[in-house]
Amino acid sequence: MKAHLRDESHTAALGVSLARALQPGLSIHLHGDLGAGKTALTRALLHAAGHAGHVKSPTYTLSEPYRVSLGGEDVNIIHYDLYRMGSPEEFLDAGFREDFDGHNICIVEWPEKAAGVLPAPDLRVILSVAGTGRDVELQAFSALGTSCLQRLHFPPIL
Ligand SMILES: Nc1ncnc2c1ncn2[C@@H]1O[C@H](COP(=O)(O)OP(=O)(O)O)[C@@H](O)[C@H]1O
Ligand SMILES: [Mg+2]
Repeated sequence: MKAHLRDESHTAALGVSLARALQPGLSIHLHGDLGAGKTALTRALLHAAGHAGHVKSPTYTLSEPYRVSLGGEDVNIIHYDLYRMGSPEEFLDAGFREDFDGHNICIVEWPEKAAGVLPAPDLRVILSVAGTGRDVELQAFSALGTSCLQRLHFPPIL
């Protein structure tokens, strides 16, 4: 799936679409330079998934968990920003790999920083600056990722 996101409202709309297509156990890697919109997308996704509070960029904590209800089932959505991670070993030392347990939904900014130790994604989202907006491409890498893309309706009916 490819789309052009003309402004931030389109990025937010994609977050809504993704939130509606989530399933427990899904792991999403977000690719793109600083300022591409990875955090903006995640913030919109979390709010659309029912998180009412603030969503901060987990720049220093590296990970931030949120508890949401998905079709009546409680699920953790864990948001990672690995930008400041010094080495892939840090990922293991922090116990992050145990988060990928087939039930938690894991959303990872800067997956490149944990190359070799990060579990493979179900879904990859690639954001890039295009003019004053952003281009986005979504790629599925598993049956879970494929079914997420099949259920994804973008733009969402708001
Ligand atoms: N589709 C878009 N077009 C233009 N600007 C956007 C779009 N989506 C997000 N932005 C802006 O780009 C910036 C993205 O920042 P952020 O989400 O923190 O990026 P990242 O997490 O990838 O470093 C924000 O200032 C946001 O307002
Ligand atoms: Mg970010």
